[in-house]
Amino acid sequence: MEIISDFLVIGSGIAGLFYALKVADYGQVVIITKKERAESNTNYAQGGIASVFSPDDSYELHIQDTLNAGAGLCKREAVEIMVREGPKKVEELIQIGVEFTRTQNGKLDLGMEGGHSRKRIVHAKDLTGREIERALIEKVLSHPNVKIFEHHVAIDLITEHHLVGIEKGKKLDNIHCWGVYALDVKTGVVKKFLSKVTMLATGGLGQVYLHTTNPLIATGDGVAMAYRAGAKIANMEFIQFHPTTLYNSGSPAFLISEAVRGFGGILRTKKGEDFMKKYDPRGSLAPRDIVARAIDTELKKSGDEYVYLDLTHLDPDKVKDRFPHIYEKCLEFKIDITKEPIPVVPAAHYSCGGVLTDLWGRSSIVGLYAAGEVAMTGVHGANRLASNSLLEALVFSERAAIDSVRFVNENFFKFPEIPDWVDTGIFNMEEWVLISHDKKEIQQLMWDYVGIVRSTLRLERAKRRIELIANEVEEFYKKTKVTAEILELRNLATVALLIIRSALMRKESRGLHFNTDYPYRDDENWLRDTIIQDIRI
Ligand code: FAD
Ligand code: SIN
Repeated sequence: MEIISDFLVIGSGIAGLFYALKVADYGQVVIITKKERAESNTNYAQGGIASVFSPDDSYELHIQDTLNAGAGLCKREAVEIMVREGPKKVEELIQIGVEFTRTQNGKLDLGMEGGHSRKRIVHAKDLTGREIERALIEKVLSHPNVKIFEHHVAIDLITEHHLVGIEKGKKLDNIHCWGVYALDVKTGVVKKFLSKVTMLATGGLGQVYLHTTNPLIATGDGVAMAYRAGAKIANMEFIQFHPTTLYNSGSPAFLISEAVRGFGGILRTKKGEDFMKKYDPRGSLAPRDIVARAIDTELKKSGDEYVYLDLTHLDPDKVKDRFPHIYEKCLEFKIDITKEPIPVVPAAHYSCGGVLTDLWGRSSIVGLYAAGEVAMTGVHGANRLASNSLLEALVFSERAAIDSVRFVNENFFKFPEIPDWVDTGIFNMEEWVLISHDKKEIQQLMWDYVGIVRSTLRLERAKRRIELIANEVEEFYKKTKVTAEILELRNLATVALLIIRSALMRKESRGLHFNTDYPYRDDENWLRDTIIQDIRI
């Protein structure tokens, strides 16, 4: 089965939906998405969108805070674009129908988060992502040119390597993307989605770790597909661990927003010590890499299983009004956050690396764009500043849309003869039962050996073991009918290895990457991105 469009969007989070809206007046748009349309990292965003609105704030301050958090690796030009174009995009969201929280005099209520020198977090209480996703979906659905395919899992990008007569894995100049093969989960049929332009907006990869804030969809599919097709993948070692998720809250771990610390919450040891001041003068509001590492150190020192986030000194009514979702959720765990401190632990949260793009969202493959968490635009460097990712997704998905329209208008398209998907294998249940345990094993290995604090020995051990698993999974994948679970497992193994390889390449410690064998920052040799490019199709 073949579905043809002008613009193909993979993913229905903030980046995919905003892009779709921006190109919809210029051609037919198809969005494919793994589960129900709203299921995305975007839907769970709590804190908000960082943007300059306050009279005591300035673009220069937001730029400087972003560069400081990024530990020398941000691309200044990308940061400037995001910060300067950001407020207009937030205004557009408001026009689309997003209802952000306002003060009594009707102005946007601006929150504070770690690493920010001013209050600049635009939010909808503590359910910002859900409100954005609701409004964007409503708007997208009302456009006659957009069609959404739910429960369709993209398998692989279609490039020259799929054409009959082209040697698999051969290095070609100018690889072109013609769309994707995708599995319709409800019918088991693999369809060919062909398009002049493909936008990869598949989000994050937190599920590669045992403990993560990311929902089940976040299996790094976009990075894995782009890598297999030969795109440049950059800075995968910079995985952000959020310092505060509710201890023992299950999988995914429930996030306790950084906005809670911005509101006055204080991190304490179980004995009550306000320990963060020992690590950074900004205390509990230091950037995330510093806070997560400090918690890790304290837990290793004390042997405790969690630290506390204490709000009990704050006005209970104000806490409940500002964080209704967090308040209710913690009550389900029998914790009244206005009366007792919240037990918290770090968990994998965000991937700063991804598919390398230029300032117009173009990947290194012709016709393939990427935006949102899957992309590496250069904005975040070695550590993302809190609440900059929703902003980045808006600004760069729009830029990708502008360039996509230009690309479509300036080129004549004739699709080559693209073969149908061959799915002749038989699903072997017994073998799958064995292979399915590999997901947990990858997640455990990544958590134990490729976490907040790394060493070369641990990274190499993880690499050896995950390579074995990846080979087994690949063998199984080749001989069986595809299912969503196999595809995700294959992608998890791929991104795990990309993270480890990048971490082994960087022989220094910077931002989110800390290796005890190279504990210092080395600007002379490592003020650069780690880039991986192979072809695996
Ligand atoms: P997503 O929103 O994750 O969307 C990805 C989409 O791709 C989904 O629809 C998914 O189903 C689809 N998809 C994936 N793989 C495939 C496939 N193979 N085939 C088809 N479809 C596929 N950032 C902030 O700036 N501020 C915050 O307050 C904030 N809070 C957060 C709280 C939590 C709990 C989490 C997890 C993240 C938070 N972040 C926050 C980060 C931010 O939410 C994400 O980086 C951002 O939403 C990513 O948007 P996206 O559009 O790139 O991806
Ligand atoms: C949070 O609310 O703490 C998440 C913010 C972010 O990830 O940017």
